[in-house]
Amino acid sequence: MAPDAPRPVPAGAPQGTPGLVTTSLLVNGETYSLDLDPRTTLLDALRDHVHLTGTKKGCDHGQCGACTVHVNGRRVNACLALAIAHEGDAITTIEGLGQPGCLHPMQEAFVEHDGYQCGYCTSGQIMSAVAMLEEPWGPGDAEVKEAMSGNICRCGAYSNIVAAIQVVRAKA
Ligand code: FES
Ligand code: FES
Repeated sequence: MAPDAPRPVPAGAPQGTPGLVTTSLLVNGETYSLDLDPRTTLLDALRDHVHLTGTKKGCDHGQCGACTVHVNGRRVNACLALAIAHEGDAITTIEGLGQPGCLHPMQEAFVEHDGYQCGYCTSGQIMSAVAMLEEPWGPGDAEVKEAMSGNICRCGAYSNIVAAIQVVRAKA
């Protein structure tokens, strides 16, 4: 048989696209059944298959935080996670946090305090900021900066981001 000829499917073999794995992802409360290359990252699954593009791809190497989402309430760099490893987990993206007209308090605070300029890093910043509300950080600005150190902002909106986070923490 020529090397690139299609291989016959044995009788009784499972149907589906060869090489792809059917994966069920629970995103923002909705279940999505996706046929994925098993190497697909959670970030690419969210953006390219679920078509939720609020989660951004910056470095794609776990260094910028633009891709931060919540998995079972904890922040995760989606570019470092395999989608098939998160079947059954509760995944939340920025679209699941709030919507125009019904923003999460952290989204409102970012708007009020000009916590963004170009906005590319903003969804990751907000997802990290919301997650840190449940983490054992001290009350000062230094602790906020440390907690948010995995989220890079090339526009340099850092001081406004810290101000927005501190306002929400004070009310929590
Ligand atoms: S895109 Fe994931 S950390 Fe940069
Ligand atoms: S607002 Fe532009 S990178 Fe952060």
